[in-house]
Amino acid sequence: MIFDSHTHLDDSAYDTDRDDVISSLIQNGVGLVVNCGADMATSASSVALATKYPHVYAAVGVHPHDSKDMVEEDIATLRNYYLESNKVKAIGEIGLDYHYDNSPRDIQKYWFEKQMELAYELSAPVVLHVREAFGDAMDIIRKYNGKVKRAVLHCCSASPEIALECVDYGYYIGVGGAVTFKSATKIKEVLKAIPLERVLLETDCPYMTPVPYSRRDRNEPKYSSHSAKVIGEVLGISGEEVEAVTYTNACKFFDITDKM
Ligand code: NI
Repeated sequence: MIFDSHTHLDDSAYDTDRDDVISSLIQNGVGLVVNCGADMATSASSVALATKYPHVYAAVGVHPHDSKDMVEEDIATLRNYYLESNKVKAIGEIGLDYHYDNSPRDIQKYWFEKQMELAYELSAPVVLHVREAFGDAMDIIRKYNGKVKRAVLHCCSASPEIALECVDYGYYIGVGGAVTFKSATKIKEVLKAIPLERVLLETDCPYMTPVPYSRRDRNEPKYSSHSAKVIGEVLGISGEEVEAVTYTNACKFFDITDKM
């Protein structure tokens, strides 16, 4: 059974068949998903999805792309989402993204740190998005080491050294469709360097569609079996074993006890 630790099923890509996709998750081998907010609107829609479907949980937070639109009251709103629903399990996705620089870097850093502070206050796990910004991101992550006890480096593009440092802090590494791409050399090195007990399986759907599908196709949680198979090939175990271990990992990470 798959635990997809990072979805965006509230995305408009599912507007025509969202209920079908979500209702058929379990029959397609996906027991649980965590839908991640990326701005205030999608944080709200993630909470709504988690409220509607028993097998959907939510993370709430603002992605670095959209941190330029954040205002101080948003922190209180995110806090309330987390405190008011036991289906809201994490703060995320938050971090730094210097690939697109959609928000100025000082603004990204300011709101990343504010949301890390919120996670520390709530003792909540964190879903981290870091792209081409590991220098600055690790400065903030190191500052919160020992305070923020659980975090996952989602869609990990870190070097094995940085991934190992995060694993040393007790953190997890998120692995999805990118592991199936021809270019996936770094993440395979990371997988060989860390224990499978620190890996979370994810899609980031509708994005990051795994091979054998086209990258242009809409991704879905059920396609995680292809990523699990490739992770298994790297580690010399079956895809089913990868699914089982990462399912347990995600339940532990998000503190979900109602295992399927
Ligand atoms: Ni995402």
